[in-house]
Amino acid sequence: MTSPFAEPAFYTDRYPTYAALRATSPVLQVPLEHGATIATVVTGYDAARQAFTAPLSKNTGAYFADKRSNRSLHPAVARSMLTVDPPEHTRLRRLVTKAFTPARVNALRPYIRSLAEQFVGLWEPGDEVNLVEELAGPLPVTVICQLLGVPPSDRDAIRSWSTDLFASGDHQRIDAASHALAGYMTELIAAKRAHPDHSLLADLIAVHDDDADRLSEGELLSLAVLLLVAGHETTTAGIGNAVLALILHPVDLKHLRTSPHCIPGAVDELLRYDSPVSIATLRWAPDAVDLSGSQVPSGSPVFVCPGAANRDPLRFPDPDRLDLDRANAASHIAFGHGIHRCLGAPLARAEVEIVLGVLLERFPGLQLAIPAEQLAWRRSRLVRGLEALPVRL
Ligand code: HEM
Repeated sequence: MTSPFAEPAFYTDRYPTYAALRATSPVLQVPLEHGATIATVVTGYDAARQAFTAPLSKNTGAYFADKRSNRSLHPAVARSMLTVDPPEHTRLRRLVTKAFTPARVNALRPYIRSLAEQFVGLWEPGDEVNLVEELAGPLPVTVICQLLGVPPSDRDAIRSWSTDLFASGDHQRIDAASHALAGYMTELIAAKRAHPDHSLLADLIAVHDDDADRLSEGELLSLAVLLLVAGHETTTAGIGNAVLALILHPVDLKHLRTSPHCIPGAVDELLRYDSPVSIATLRWAPDAVDLSGSQVPSGSPVFVCPGAANRDPLRFPDPDRLDLDRANAASHIAFGHGIHRCLGAPLARAEVEIVLGVLLERFPGLQLAIPAEQLAWRRSRLVRGLEALPVRL
């Protein structure tokens, strides 16, 4: 069997591949791109939910210990809440959750709206713009910068390092960006420590448990970097995929434009239909484990695919159809499941919702500026998102 991820067609439209894999088995051993590694790929909905709570490890430091010797990724990027297991993960997540509250996200909503209005402010109906470059890309990173308390003058630099971190395959560029970003964040933490403000970063510095446990300097740094990285490309893809799906379903687009109160509910179906995190971050099996009746061998890397699980016909009838009235759309796993479930889900949801609201209100005639077949998709296993989204307003 050749690797399902080696074909360029996979990145253009991965759903036929997912369907074929799932039909063979919802839990399957497949070779990775270079054929040397065999990985377990989980494409069924039930199996994916099981995998997210199974005794699989996210401690990729241990997994890569003997495999990635020529890399010089900054430790704050290589190791984060997303790459540790309990009890370390439990402690970190508890402390972060104390500072990153729903109230904080709600308080950001007016800012997100004014930012979205600012981005589209100079656009006129009939203009042609690349929505990824001019809205879906810059908005999420600006929101995270605002959340963390990054001064506006430094935001362009942050955006460029964050983009470099996702430069698939270009190890030198990724490693260099990881050091630049970590260096910047170290200074920012020192500045917030000296002059606390109302930012999330200042709150994370101050946060402590009942037993006075606090985040260490290294933990603060990796967390600041993680929030930036985890919340940028994913949300960019989320906005782009949602806008594209609506443009390709004009009846639904019109419905949401005339009934904007339906947008929050529609966001779940949009996230299910074209999930931005198509394949979750790497897990591996320290010991052999059973998933939905299939054995995952000890030592196997495991790719859990929300993008495939969210199109499982056993869970979502007629899964390839966008159905804004789908009764169980909210049971999608686009934000993962279990202890690593997306920490930023309420924020991501707010951003997608607000951007859709502003776009549909301002530009009712939104359409593609090029044929859909010519849209270029990113060559990333993890993120399913557009390189560019040229639209006519
Ligand atoms: C539409 C946008 C987003 C999607 C689809 C998404 C999806 C996900 C998924 C699937 C995971 C679990 C990964 C795994 O278990 O392998 C995750 C984790 C995470 N996400 Fe998001 N995310 C989004 C936006 C954000 C935003 C805006 C932030 C923060 C500002 C964020 C912060 C995080 C963090 C910190 C984790 C790790 C949680 C942990 O390990 O306990 N995400 N996200």
